[in-house]
Amino acid sequence: MLIRIPASHEPLPSEITPRQVYLSRRQVMAGLGLIAVAPPLLAQSAPGGGKLPRLAATPSTVAGAIAADKPTRYIDATSYNNFYEFGTDKSDPAERARTLRPRPWTVAVEGECAKPGNYDLDTLLKLGAMEERVYRLRCVEGWSMVIPWVGYSLSELIRRAEPTPKAKFVEFTTLADRAQMPGLRSAVLDWPYVEGLRMDEAMHPLALLTFGMYGEMLPNQNGAPVRVVLPWKYGFKSAKSIVKIRFVEKQPRSSWEDAAPQEYGFYSNVNPGVPHPRWSQASERRIGEDGLFAKKRPTVIFNGYEAQVGQLYAGMDLRRNY
Ligand code: MTE
Repeated sequence: MLIRIPASHEPLPSEITPRQVYLSRRQVMAGLGLIAVAPPLLAQSAPGGGKLPRLAATPSTVAGAIAADKPTRYIDATSYNNFYEFGTDKSDPAERARTLRPRPWTVAVEGECAKPGNYDLDTLLKLGAMEERVYRLRCVEGWSMVIPWVGYSLSELIRRAEPTPKAKFVEFTTLADRAQMPGLRSAVLDWPYVEGLRMDEAMHPLALLTFGMYGEMLPNQNGAPVRVVLPWKYGFKSAKSIVKIRFVEKQPRSSWEDAAPQEYGFYSNVNPGVPHPRWSQASERRIGEDGLFAKKRPTVIFNGYEAQVGQLYAGMDLRRNY
C-alpha cells in the first residue's frame, strides 16, 4: 500500500482545516469522483519516541474518537504506567518491561462463537483499517492522560468470530509468563489479569483493539503487542497484552473484583458522583500538565463520552452497578 508521508515542513491538511470538516469534504469529493480515495496518512497528532516501528493510520471518523484535549507527551505516557505484571510502582513497567517478547504473539478467540480461531499478530494487524483515536484515559487512582492510540474497533474482530446468542459477555485474559514478567512473583493479584465487558459494550465503536500509540507500535509498558482501550471506563478495564478473548454466557469475574470487590465493580464507568472507598472520583490530575500542587480538574461522567455511551446504561442504577 502506498503511504504518502508529508515532509516535516509541510502542514497536514488536517492542520489547516478542522479535521471533521476536512474529512467530510474529502468524503463528498470522493463520492463525486473528484478525488481518489485517500491513501492512509501517518498519524501525527503527537510525536512518538522514534524507536519503535511506525504504524500508519487515518484519523478516526467514529463519533467522539478525537478528543480536543492536548495529547500527553510520549515520555510521560510511557514512563508513568500501571502494569502490575512488571511491578506496582509507576516507573516499574518502563524499567522492567523490556523482558516482554511481543513477537511471536497469538490471540485465541474462543467460547460461545461459530468461528473460534487463533490469530497471530500479523493477521490481526491486517484485519481492520488502522485509525488514530485520541482518547482521554482516566485511572481510578485520580490521574488522567490523553493518548493518540492506533487500532480499530474491537467489534471488527468480534463480528468475524460470529458470537452465538448465548454470548452475553466478553472475557479478556492477558499474558502471565513468569519468564517474561517479574511482577508475577508478587501475589498482588491472582494472575493472569482478567477483565470483561458486556457484549454491547464490547461492540460499541469506541471500544478499541489497540496496537499502537503516537503513530508507532505499542511500547511494552503500554501493553504490547495488543490491548483494549475503553475510554469511558476507569483505566484498569483496558487490559494490556491480551492472549485470549472468550465469549461467555455469565458475567466474568475480573481480577480487580476478585482482589477487592467492594472497591472495583464490573462496570467501572468513570463517574464523579460515585467515590471509590479510598479515592474521591470528583476530580483528576492530568499527567505532565497539572503539577502536584495545581488545582485538580473536574472529572466528567463517562469521562466525557456520555453522548456516545450513555444509552448503554439507560435505566441502570450506576451507584449499585459501579
Ligand atoms: N493490564 C494488565 N495486563 N495489567 C495491569 O496491571 N493495569 C491497568 C490497565 N491494564 C493493567 C492492565 C490500569 S490500572 C491502568 S490505569 C491502565 O492499564 C494503564 O494503561 P497505561 O499504562 O498505558 O496508561
